[in-house]
Amino acid sequence: MSEPVIDLAARAAESALFIKRSVPAVPPLALVLGSGLNELAEGVQDATVIPYRDIPHFPVPTVAGHAGNLLVGRIDSAGLIVLQGRFHYYEGHPLEVVTFPMRVLQFLGVRTVILTAATGGIRADLRPGNLVCLSDHLNLIGDNPLRGSNDTRLGTRFPDMTEVYSKKLRAVAREEGKRLGINVIPGVYACLPGPSYETPAEIRMLQALGADVVGMSTVPEAIVARHGGMDVLAFALVTNSAAGVLGTPISHKEVLDAGKKATPLLGKVLRRVALRLSDP
Ligand code: 6GU
Repeated sequence: MSEPVIDLAARAAESALFIKRSVPAVPPLALVLGSGLNELAEGVQDATVIPYRDIPHFPVPTVAGHAGNLLVGRIDSAGLIVLQGRFHYYEGHPLEVVTFPMRVLQFLGVRTVILTAATGGIRADLRPGNLVCLSDHLNLIGDNPLRGSNDTRLGTRFPDMTEVYSKKLRAVAREEGKRLGINVIPGVYACLPGPSYETPAEIRMLQALGADVVGMSTVPEAIVARHGGMDVLAFALVTNSAAGVLGTPISHKEVLDAGKKATPLLGKVLRRVALRLSDP
């Protein structure tokens, strides 16, 4: 039997209710882990682990390197929710499914979402292991998660995108990076549908358009998080140079390995940012 047709807000509310009932308290901060960055969840203390498959209406990931768990715990004194495993357009999901976890966070009362992603470096000075903090994005997916009728319980029809990535939070990230001796580099993220990586000509096009890094996630989630009234901070870990920048081919394994290698670096910055947000 197929599931009865119920609206997005009702589904997200049911998912949120299930999560609320599974934990003592829901923190106002959430972190979404990208490819190869799953190990960041190991730094979460006193975690309640809720498999996505147990959460009503929650999608289940299909990509290698992506676990499917929602964690509720803390990093030192900072409570946070961690989404270990995300959904991508290239998996064949509609963007409403890709961004469903953001709607659940919205219904949980989350105020701030930190998104992380593995990305290709386009700007010539970016190297694998560099940490970019998104200043803006180019949505080149060819679709928008808000397409279709608008439910005003979720947000406004035409949301403003002047400051998708909170200026205030970006300043915090840069400051905390500086204190750690980690260069948190501002940059523009171009989001493409994938799953093929770009050609050198496409990378030259993206360069001309003003992109610094390229990836296949983050942007739909950021759009929905803003629509839902949450503040967004996003980190793009440069796992490789984009096609044609160095002339070497790109492999998914290289992307995952570089993500793993840089996990401690990103972990340090995230910990400090989380602490600053929980105790401003
Ligand atoms: Cl080079 N392109 C895209 N679209 N996503 C990536 C990447 C490149 N490297 C890591 N993720």
